[in-house]
Amino acid sequence: MAPAILVTGGAGYVGSHTVMALLERADNEHEIVVIDNLVNAYRADGEKKPEPLKRIEEMTGRKIHFYDVDIRDRDGLNRIFENHSIQCVIHFAALKAVGESVQKPLEYYQANIAGTCTLFEAMRTHGVYKLVYSSSCTVYGEPEKLPLDEGHPTGLGIASPYGRSKYFCEEIMKDLCRSDQKWMVISLRYFNPVGAHRSGRIGEDPAGLPNNLMPFIAQVAVGRLKELMVFGSDYPTVDGTGVRDYIHVQDLADGHVKAIRLFQQPGFSGFHAVNLGTGTGYSVLQMVKAFEKASGRTIPYKIVGRRAGDIATNYADVSLSHRLLGWRATRTLDDMCADTWRWQSANPEGFQKS
Ligand code: NAD
Ligand code: WQD
Repeated sequence: MAPAILVTGGAGYVGSHTVMALLERADNEHEIVVIDNLVNAYRADGEKKPEPLKRIEEMTGRKIHFYDVDIRDRDGLNRIFENHSIQCVIHFAALKAVGESVQKPLEYYQANIAGTCTLFEAMRTHGVYKLVYSSSCTVYGEPEKLPLDEGHPTGLGIASPYGRSKYFCEEIMKDLCRSDQKWMVISLRYFNPVGAHRSGRIGEDPAGLPNNLMPFIAQVAVGRLKELMVFGSDYPTVDGTGVRDYIHVQDLADGHVKAIRLFQQPGFSGFHAVNLGTGTGYSVLQMVKAFEKASGRTIPYKIVGRRAGDIATNYADVSLSHRLLGWRATRTLDDMCADTWRWQSANPEGFQKS
């Protein structure tokens, strides 16, 4: 059996771009095995594979093994580990809507924590100890100081069950690494992923009203939504609106490719948390302006009150990602906006209707 990488949640936004990045590398001889229960990814009626994976196969000429399996399905996972020679796991699968998690904490803890534990059990059963985990800057809670480095306390003042599920999973992974030196875990703490693959054929396709800024702006630009609500203009920032460290999803995907290379490094083991961001923050209004420039469209907006749980500013200290992974974000804000626009204008209704 050829060596394989298991990608959970690989039909989703960050997962699909990472699958693309893995397959675009000529030196990657691993087979790619994706599992996804399609709770937040689209598959056309009668098709075996989700639409993003079909498009990646078309673009790369490479085959992806796909299983419509939930990470909580122990038997389903065991069959996959038996059918493929899995060398390492990149674990994206999770529910991620911050507001919804406040309404449905049990569903979030069940999927994100119980599901993650079931996956880890299957890995251990099959002797697979190499793991890249999708974590989030949300684990830092309200920043005590900026930029946020990996030594900043985690777990305090996190505003949602979603955020806490990411923090709890990190604690579980630390305990696993303490229990057995065979584990090698890289927890990538993403800042704010935006953008789309440069082809414009895969991108972010939120179900319903977007929760996040960039897809909301993109849907206003394309005429699906009337105007953007800007949540608060009285923050202590450059123009009063919230500041975030937006990172191009292709840079993020490349970070995962670099992370799995670390597993080959002699002596590498244990738990490592690494920020993936650019180190630069932009305000909501700066994002609007940049998107107007990239799209040539006007983005109507209205200032409304602050959104509960929002912080004023965050941005990453990115020195560890450079030192440990040899990785740095290379794409600019203009790239992020231009690539989002290419995807959104070519697929105005997302995957389903394009
Ligand atoms: P996404 O919803 O697009 O992708 C997640 C994928 O996992 C979806 O395709 C979904 O169908 C699948 N999935 C969910 N629950 C599952 C389960 N129980 N079993 C199998 N598959 C399941 O989200 P994304 O933006 O690509 O995020 C990927 C990961 O990155 C998540 O873990 C998320 O928490 C984390 N993250 C995302 C962001 C962001 O802003 N996008 C920021 C920080 C961290
Ligand atoms: C960005 C800025 C909003 C929408 C969330 C999660 C976090 C992480 C990334 C997963 C803020 C403002 C937004 C809108 C607005 N995800 N905004 N109008 O809140 O930094 O982080 O996604 O781990 O956990 O909390 O990202 O894109 O929602 O907001 O004014 O319609 O845009 O107030 O200042 P956020 P976001």
